[in-house]
Amino acid sequence: MCPPAHFRVSYSINPWMDPSKPVDAALAMFQWEDLRDRYRALGHTVEILDPLPGLPDMVFAANGATVVDGRVLGAKFANPERTEEAPAHLAWFRAHGFAEVREPEHVNEAEGDLAVTAGWILAGQGFRSSPLAHDEAQEFFGRPVISLELTDPRYYHLDTALAVLDETRDEIMYFPGAFSPGSRAVLARLFPGALLATAQDAAALGLNAVSDGRHVLLPRPATGLHAPLRERGFEPVAVDMSELHKAGGSVKCCTMELRPPAS
Ligand code: ARG
Repeated sequence: MCPPAHFRVSYSINPWMDPSKPVDAALAMFQWEDLRDRYRALGHTVEILDPLPGLPDMVFAANGATVVDGRVLGAKFANPERTEEAPAHLAWFRAHGFAEVREPEHVNEAEGDLAVTAGWILAGQGFRSSPLAHDEAQEFFGRPVISLELTDPRYYHLDTALAVLDETRDEIMYFPGAFSPGSRAVLARLFPGALLATAQDAAALGLNAVSDGRHVLLPRPATGLHAPLRERGFEPVAVDMSELHKAGGSVKCCTMELRPPAS
């Protein structure tokens, strides 16, 4: 995670961002600290990346790299405003003993567009990551990558429309309305038992959630997901991320997952 020390909405690269609307920087920091503390209270280790001035979206750490089996595939941002975040992430991994670190060739916004399940890596395209990055991820991680097409600009990253609930059981939740008809059919075929979110919960960024396989941390307004999550044996943990939502990000965007090597 990367604290929102320089967070503000000074440009607009997705429909959520309106630079004319005020952002409460102190509240953003408070909300981020609350999320970090909840992870720690649940027993998870949180590593901190130093924020850099001039990179207001750096708080969205999920976009900085994808780590699977301890192998690190860096990011290449679609928008020049975020370009400089990528080397900062790569430097962190190199300094922290990760041996396999690859700088990507193609536009790849990391966990924004790559979701890891037991059997596959689900990969979004349409707004940010290039389909060529999907091939690159498949080759680098040696896992089958399933390309999915995003069609609604509000759901510009895969992680705004789909969340993995249990990496060991191929269990996901998603909002079908964010995907092309073909991609919807692919998801229905691969995940027939998936939790389907309503348009309302999707618009509350409820799919931008992080699950540890039991607790699902999700933004507070997405209350419609609580009952279906509980029915599936998960415990919803509501977190207030209102200030980060003004940049189009929530719980998952603020969280990069460090998946260790298979033991
Ligand atoms: N303002 C950021 C952008 O548009 C938000 C990124 C959200 N991150 C995410 N993983 N969806 O790039």
